[in-house]
Amino acid sequence: MRKIYIFDTTLRDGEQSPGVNLNTREKVEIAHQLEKLGIDRMEAGFPAASPGDLAAVNAVAKAVKNSTVIGLSRAREQDIDAVREALKGAQDPCIHIFLATSPIHRQHKLRMEKAQVLETARSAIRYGLKYLPKVEFSLEDAGRTELDFVVEMVTMAVQEGASVVNIPDTVGYLTPYEYGNIFKHIKENVVDVDKIQLSAHCHNDLGMATANTLAAILNGADQIEGTINGIGERAGNTAIEEIAMALETRQEFFQAKTSLQLSEISRTSRLVSRLTGMVVPGNKAIVGANAFAHESGIHQDGMLKEKTTYEIMTPESIGLKESKLVLGKHSGRHAFRERLIELGYELSEEELNRAFGQFKDLADKKKEVSDDDILALLEEKLADTPEVFTLKTMFVTFGNETTPSAKVSLVNEEGQVIETEAEGNGSVDAIYNAIDEASGESVVLSDYSIKSVTHGKDALGEVHVVLTQNGLSVQGRGVSTDILEASARAYVDALNGLIDKRKNYSNRVDYNS
Ligand code: KIV
Ligand code: ZN
Repeated sequence: MRKIYIFDTTLRDGEQSPGVNLNTREKVEIAHQLEKLGIDRMEAGFPAASPGDLAAVNAVAKAVKNSTVIGLSRAREQDIDAVREALKGAQDPCIHIFLATSPIHRQHKLRMEKAQVLETARSAIRYGLKYLPKVEFSLEDAGRTELDFVVEMVTMAVQEGASVVNIPDTVGYLTPYEYGNIFKHIKENVVDVDKIQLSAHCHNDLGMATANTLAAILNGADQIEGTINGIGERAGNTAIEEIAMALETRQEFFQAKTSLQLSEISRTSRLVSRLTGMVVPGNKAIVGANAFAHESGIHQDGMLKEKTTYEIMTPESIGLKESKLVLGKHSGRHAFRERLIELGYELSEEELNRAFGQFKDLADKKKEVSDDDILALLEEKLADTPEVFTLKTMFVTFGNETTPSAKVSLVNEEGQVIETEAEGNGSVDAIYNAIDEASGESVVLSDYSIKSVTHGKDALGEVHVVLTQNGLSVQGRGVSTDILEASARAYVDALNGLIDKRKNYSNRVDYNS
């Protein structure tokens, strides 16, 4: 079995999804989970984008012990210097330098001839290798580049000493046959190709990212790049969990495997979804809520007789456990802690006290508290954005023949209580108007969604919002048995995130500029 190296770019290409903006703490939290998942290499960001991005990559570099940490760089010395700085303290640093190679990009974006592209990339790889032990070089838009120029570029990268050469289908344009053929062609035509690892990097514009990546593996790719839940620019990147489970489930066909800890897939997916605010669609392969649900009578009957009739992989293999009814209002702190450990959370005393208090409040409102309820509460609380504002109280009036109004009190960082009252065209609108007035922030609500965590009329409601201010978008999440309270909590959470990100990520440079 050939080992396929997994390069995760959730924290870089994934973070380029519209509305996603991870702060340093969130990046480090995801990086730790990626380590648990057994990711070989992780791209932590684009340090030249802003001092905030550089600091976030540096925090990841210092926190991660068992994976290679990578910083993205254009083929420019100042970008390479930023990556050098950001990767200080990394156990196994690597720089990822890219330059576009396709005729469209050469002509319209770079305004460079082939020879200039070749020499610019050569100088950048040389400069990178002066300061960092490993360079991965990417031919941006390789998928639309002349095959002979691809060979020329890869040959140059081999000669200059790059460790990995990446062949991105940047715009998700190719079919599996065409993409696989590029790898075959490189393998057959680049002298000393075995000195490097070849990497596949696909986008999902035509829904073919996973198929294309698998075609690359069949044609000799040593590494694949992707994101958790397939998040990323436009239609997203290859979903790592799909590749991992395809190789696992069809081992004999692919004759290749990853070293991922597959039972961490579900938890990683949840975390990325929570911190990015990108809800995983129910029918998403592997990690969607319905991926292992059997609805039709015929399927259920088959499953009862023999699971393999309709199940090609088990939910347990990705770490999904049946949600159990756990504790009630008489359960003690010890039982609660034990249950959390079983769920994979080891909390500090302070976090445990806070979570236990929350659990008790919930158990007072809800007869039966399940694992999913506990996880929802816990995950809301573990998001540790500094709380500039906290929601203290709220009072809402609604009648179908009156104008809804809300009275809200927030506590600010100085401990002052700010009380406001506002009307709106609905209860949520009234609450949000009151919070806007109390916080003094002017924001646009770009997205609002609500779902129930479990079943039943007393289920917890989970609200996600996206707030936008001057081009910066931030998501927030709130959980409560009352959907109006969950709505208010999500809004305040997003406001706190926005204030935090405004400090760290202003004047960000786009890597394609
Ligand atoms: O899709 C792409 O081409 C990229 C490069 C920066 C590698 O993400
Ligand atoms: Zn990409």
